[in-house]
Parts: sequence; structure tokens; C-alpha cells
Amino acid sequence: MDFIKIAKVTDFEDKYIKSYSIMGKKIGVIRQKDGQFFAIEVGCKHQRADLTEGEIDGLIVTCPRHHWKYDLVTGKCLNHESVDLRRHALKIEAGDIFISLYPAPE
Ligand code: FES
Repeated sequence: MDFIKIAKVTDFEDKYIKSYSIMGKKIGVIRQKDGQFFAIEVGCKHQRADLTEGEIDGLIVTCPRHHWKYDLVTGKCLNHESVDLRRHALKIEAGDIFISLYPAPE
């Protein structure tokens, strides 16, 4: 699996979520309270708004455009029939964060 470096762990000292555009995809990197990181698609399944610009309550995000809600841990849309947001494989090496464009294994 190919990984690309997108950030440093220190980029998340005062934030817990950031989005990155990679080859036309919006992918969010999220630091959880326990310090673990994960990566998930953050382009809304309705019309591709950046979910990291929406209201975030814990790990539930509300899309800034038409208010679809998603669980950022599972990727499930909570109020509409929709395919899930995809999780991406993520690894950390020497303080650098790498993600794969391929979906994380289930
Ligand atoms: S673009 Fe997200 S709900 Fe419409």
C-alpha cells in the first residue's frame, strides 16, 4: 500500500481535525482525545462540501451546506440514505503523518 506524507503530529497541537486535498479528494485527519489519529473522507456525499467547515460536536459533523450529519468514526450519514464516508489507512513515523489513498481495511 502506498502512503504519502501529509502532515506532522505537531500540526495538531491546537487542532484536532484538518482537511487536505489530495488528487481531488478531501481527506480529513483527526486526532482523538487519546492521541490516536485516523483519516476519513470529508467531502460530503451530497454535493462535496468540506465537512471540516461544518459544525463539529465531538465526532459528529453537520455539513455546512444542507446539514446532513455524519459520524466521523464510522463514516455513516445519520439523517439520509447515503454511502459511507471512506476511512483511509494512516500511519505515523518519526512524527510525520502518512495516509493512503486506498480505503483502510475493514
Ligand atoms: S453538500 Fe453536504 S448536505 Fe449538501
